[in-house]
Amino acid sequence: MKDQNFLTENNAKQLWHPMGHPAEMQANPPKIITKSSGSKITDIDGHDVVDAVGGLWCVNLGYSNDLIKNAISEQLQDLPYYSAFAGSSNPPAIEAAYKVQEFFAEDGIERVFFTSGGSDSVETCLRLARQYHRLRGEPNRTKFISLKKGYHGTHFGGASVNGNNRFRINYEPLMPGCFHLPAPYPYRNPFNETDPAKLAQLIAQAFEDEIAFQGAGSIAALIMEPILGAGGVIVPHESFMPLMREICDRHGILLISDEVITGFGRTGDWSGARHWGVKPDMMSTAKGITSGYFPVGAALISGKVAEVFESSGADGAIFHGYTYSAHPVGAAAVTACLEETLRLDTKVNAAARGKQLFEGVKALAQKHGIIGDVRGGHGLMTGIELVSDQSSKEPMDAATMGRIHQAAYEAGAMVRIGGNNILMSPPLIISEQEIDTILSALDAGFSAA
Ligand SMILES: Cc1ncc(COP(=O)(O)O)c(C=O)c1O
Repeated sequence: MKDQNFLTENNAKQLWHPMGHPAEMQANPPKIITKSSGSKITDIDGHDVVDAVGGLWCVNLGYSNDLIKNAISEQLQDLPYYSAFAGSSNPPAIEAAYKVQEFFAEDGIERVFFTSGGSDSVETCLRLARQYHRLRGEPNRTKFISLKKGYHGTHFGGASVNGNNRFRINYEPLMPGCFHLPAPYPYRNPFNETDPAKLAQLIAQAFEDEIAFQGAGSIAALIMEPILGAGGVIVPHESFMPLMREICDRHGILLISDEVITGFGRTGDWSGARHWGVKPDMMSTAKGITSGYFPVGAALISGKVAEVFESSGADGAIFHGYTYSAHPVGAAAVTACLEETLRLDTKVNAAARGKQLFEGVKALAQKHGIIGDVRGGHGLMTGIELVSDQSSKEPMDAATMGRIHQAAYEAGAMVRIGGNNILMSPPLIISEQEIDTILSALDAGFSAA
């Protein structure tokens, strides 16, 4: 490895970073993270902080899980790669698919299609939804409905159903036939409705209205996150996802639950859909499937959808997939990660520590007038929306957000900024004391605004 001078000198020079402006990254080089342990990370200057971001909503088991690390290195010795395209398979992939299916059996999941990450999993679900209807003799069902503020990755399919224009406008035109409903976001919505239950009803009505307008027979699927993550941790009312499920059923529309963040315990349940008592037709997953140790995702398919593919003729063939689908090393990481997730029963700590973080931030809101809205309370996903004026809800400017971020970092916690939101999704194994550290670092951050 090159020395510290080399790394500092070349930071963001050759490397273009995702979700950043290349010139801005060169002017303000990103923090170089060199080491990690438990729920903590260390930067190149030796500064240690609690990682309230969990890598990127993904390091659910923290950074020190030797079982996953060993599973990866052992598999590298036996078989570092082989294709899983029709005609060949590998032992870790067979075992990992068995484990993932078992993990989500209660959600009605019967089949597993491995991918390389969340965007791939979303893309797979969208494609399979169209093919499902085609196989059933409804080839006109091609459209997708999704939620504003939703995030579904950055492939053209996912970006087309994304509900935040930051990820869309530079890349337009996107896929035709994608339509958006208002987000279940009581703090800001076009109905001016602050009651979450009433807002859920209003969005359900908007969904019915859109279906009537488009024609039910033209809609393939609704894709939604059970709790909207990157859009600002937007927690819908408990009635919301069941309402969406019921409307989909009535109109023959598939429900895709995008569980890239919410899967594997983050909400305090093993899936976000289960958290709301809903069984989806498909689920897109990634992140917590390997705790971020290896890039893997999976599209998960219910019995209802699988049956249509498996009982159909030649058209049921899936001409979709990735070189790294069912990668043996990734699959070994999946099996080890799921065994550890179950052994540690991480959903329990996620619920308890999530409540602590949420309550702690609500207490900070009493002290700091810049906190406009605090969202969370359902596992380890917490969002803080900052405003420069409480009554007009003017979003906090980027420079102030940057100062808060840096001051919190210096005081001991890495948090993530998304627009005027602070987004937090620490490892699910985080301790009570480490949550306290995050809260005191936030306090310092807000004081520096
Ligand atoms: C809900 C959701 N879907 C899809 C994605 C895309 O996943 P990836 O970045 O692994 O492609 C993300 C990423 O954060 C996500 O949060």
